[in-house]
Amino acid sequence: MSSLRRISNIQLKNETFNVVDKILENPYEFGASKRIHIGDTAVAVESEKINERTKKMREVGYSSADYFIEFNNNMLSNVQKDLENKYDLSYTHSCVIIIPPGQCMPTHSDTYSYLVKYMKRDFGDVSYDLKQDVRRYLVFLKDWQSGQSIGAEDNVKCSWNSGDVYEWDYKSLHWCSNSGLSPIVFFEITGLNLN
Ligand SMILES: [Fe+2]
Repeated sequence: MSSLRRISNIQLKNETFNVVDKILENPYEFGASKRIHIGDTAVAVESEKINERTKKMREVGYSSADYFIEFNNNMLSNVQKDLENKYDLSYTHSCVIIIPPGQCMPTHSDTYSYLVKYMKRDFGDVSYDLKQDVRRYLVFLKDWQSGQSIGAEDNVKCSWNSGDVYEWDYKSLHWCSNSGLSPIVFFEITGLNLN
């Protein structure tokens, strides 16, 4: 089985496309954060793993010009609800990511550190297994354009449609590259499937 899979397509509503168009026009007006891969050296990072990662990124040549754009403000709660219902997810969090032309999401594996943190803090009585119970799904919010790709291990995909849902193997190294002329935009949800 491929380590990166298109598993379904959800019907995105017109209001979702309208939000996407608006945030692309001026992301920072809608609460976006610019996330520089080497980190903001003015901000202390708690996680040792993240410190190690940003150090490595600097060593191999990433600079403060290399970034992605992230929204953590639940602006697409209808997409979140659709995915929660479709995949029987609870304790979810989600974000919207923009990869501008000429940018990428460097190869990494997921740690689910945010989920682990709030589960421990707010739902300490809920037991779950990171490998068995955690789910993360990516939904493209714009159709694929030439020059864009997503990969996990040795599987690379392109030609997606908006609404396509992808998943990848636990701990697999994955990435996203935009050599195109339009931004890549996707929604990502993380949660538990406990049933
Ligand atoms: Fe990831």
